[in-house]
Amino acid sequence: MKEDNCLHAALICLGMLYYSHAITAEKLNHPRPSLHGHHEKGKEGQVLHRSKRGWVWNQFFVIEEYTGPDPVLVGRLHSDIDSGDGNIKYILSGEGAGIIFVIDDKSGNIHATKTLDREERAQYTLTAQAVDRNTNRPLEPPSEFIVKVQDINDNPPEFLHENYHANVPERSNVGTSVIQVTASDADDPTYGNSAKLVYSILEGQPYFSVEAQTGIIRTALPNMDREAKEEYHVVIQAKDMGGHMGGLSGTTKVTITLTDVNDNPPKFPQSVYQMSVSEAAVPGEEVGRVKAKDPDIGENGLVAYSIIDGDGMDMFEITTDYETQEGVVKLKKRLDFETKKSYSLKVEAANVHIDPKFISNGPFKDTVTVKISVEDADEPPVFLKPSYIFEVQENAASGTVVGKVHAKDPDAANSAIRYSIDRHTDLERYFIINAEDGNIKTIKALDREEIAWHNISVFAVEVHKQHQEAKVPVAIKVVDVNDNAPKFAAAYEAFVCENARSNQQFITISADDKDDSANGPRFIFSLPPEIIHNPNFTLRDNRDNTASVLVRREGFSRQKQDLYLLPIVISDGGLPPMSSTNTLTIRVCGCDSNGSLLSCNAEAYILNAGLSTGALIAILACIVILLGKKVLDLLLFYTCLC
Ligand SMILES: *[C@@H]1O[C@H](CO)[C@@H](O)[C@H](O)[C@H]1NC(C)=O
Ligand SMILES: *[C@@H]1O[C@H](CO)[C@@H](O)[C@H](O)[C@H]1NC(C)=O
Ligand SMILES: *[C@@H]1O[C@H](CO)[C@@H](O)[C@H](O)[C@H]1NC(C)=O
Repeated sequence: MKEDNCLHAALICLGMLYYSHAITAEKLNHPRPSLHGHHEKGKEGQVLHRSKRGWVWNQFFVIEEYTGPDPVLVGRLHSDIDSGDGNIKYILSGEGAGIIFVIDDKSGNIHATKTLDREERAQYTLTAQAVDRNTNRPLEPPSEFIVKVQDINDNPPEFLHENYHANVPERSNVGTSVIQVTASDADDPTYGNSAKLVYSILEGQPYFSVEAQTGIIRTALPNMDREAKEEYHVVIQAKDMGGHMGGLSGTTKVTITLTDVNDNPPKFPQSVYQMSVSEAAVPGEEVGRVKAKDPDIGENGLVAYSIIDGDGMDMFEITTDYETQEGVVKLKKRLDFETKKSYSLKVEAANVHIDPKFISNGPFKDTVTVKISVEDADEPPVFLKPSYIFEVQENAASGTVVGKVHAKDPDAANSAIRYSIDRHTDLERYFIINAEDGNIKTIKALDREEIAWHNISVFAVEVHKQHQEAKVPVAIKVVDVNDNAPKFAAAYEAFVCENARSNQQFITISADDKDDSANGPRFIFSLPPEIIHNPNFTLRDNRDNTASVLVRREGFSRQKQDLYLLPIVISDGGLPPMSSTNTLTIRVCGCDSNGSLLSCNAEAYILNAGLSTGALIAILACIVILLGKKVLDLLLFYTCLC
């Protein structure tokens, strides 16, 4: 190795933290021309070898952000063959040569003329040459070297956000993670501690803490109560240089909100509520409201109300108004001041959603007494019965008592009552009422068969307060009297055949009675006593409100008698019974052998003798014309006899 041919660079360091003039023997013996600069050292202090090629340490270092009055000396190029006579000229070329970096061509001193910023550009590659000043002949091969801009801690840590917002449930265990805040540092993370950040809490203690290395914020106090304080303002600092003095720092604000958990039971602010309600109030009407306070919010503060005891349990009910969180006491049944003037209720308010974590904190409910007084209302008269049903006999004489209604003023005043009949319900004026005592009487006879029920209405008014009026339905039933006899159910017409055999039945009859069933069937049919031994017909009562009529003998003949009138007596089941005699018309007719009617009148009889009606009329006409009136009279006489 020829040392004479080597270009050596001497390094002059100014104000650097890590300087080394130590050039190892290995480096001095390096076979290539070399520049000597600051050695980068690892943590263990070893010289770093970036590659085997040996240019690794051909670096100069210049500190960034230098703002001194003179250009900063970066280093010095020196060739061993430089005897100091000024024959050698040093030339610098490459990145920033002549602009940022200038070289004194005699001494080889390199200066930086500008302030450098590592975060902008971390290194520059330059080439050094040594030439003969006179001939410009290179005296050494060109040598490349690097100027590294040395980081100084010129960047403070910066948080990703200026403000953070985070939530954590109240009463969380100590150490519960709330949020992680992260800062970054633009300084060289591989060099020194300029980018080594440590987090600390500036505001927010003793409630919260921050993990120095990670920036995770955790709760630091047990039982933090949202109802006492909901929002916390925490300031976190990130400091570089490992948090040591002299490091740069940045801060961020973290707003931490405690979220609600159900850690409070509902509580009534008073032990007794006093309410009043008029006895005139109708069921469903609101009587009053109670409200238990629950400092929790949302569903944790939801309260449901119920009545759990008290003598008013049957009369009142409570519902929950979820909008106002109130318990609404309502009337369930009608009240009566005169019967009971006050009630009491035990009302419970209970949380709807209970957090099992706090169940041991006691029951999440509270009770309160609600006292309700009933107020007297001016009430209309009240009939002792909701309706009346009376009976009166039909045909009863005018002035017959039907019944008596009774109404009372329920108020303490107990005002006198006056009665009247609603005339719209008794248009025909069958009834009259005694205004003072409520006695109803007939003023006309009643006919059940015409109107069976008289359903009327009766008013009661207070004498001194006519507007206090009540109305009651009165149904008057007209009780049947057996005043109607049974009659044939139809206008019967019976036929009997000339060839009828004795005891042959030829008609079945039934009867009707206008009276009601008690005075109607069962009907009894009979022949009148004077003809009970009638040789021609018999009657058989079928005992089912019908009767059959039979022929008693044979040999009926139209010629002898073609019409019989049979009186039949029908009597009803009333007490006393009513009866009537009805006449059954029976015609004698010609029948075939099967009993089917053929003809029932005298004309038919003549027809049977062989003459047509037309022929007979023609004969009669001739006789009239030929013989005159006398003969006609004679002939008519004869015809009648037939
Ligand atoms: C009258 O009232 C009675 C008893 O309520 C009832 O049975 C009857 O049907 C009513 N009559 C009329 C015509 O409304
Ligand atoms: C029975 O029939 C005969 C012959 O037609 C008649 O003369 C008689 O009056 C009838 N008797 C009664 C009670 O109708
Ligand atoms: C009587 O009835 C029988 C059987 O229904 C029938 O065969 C016969 O022709 C009938 N006689 C007369 C005269 O209608």
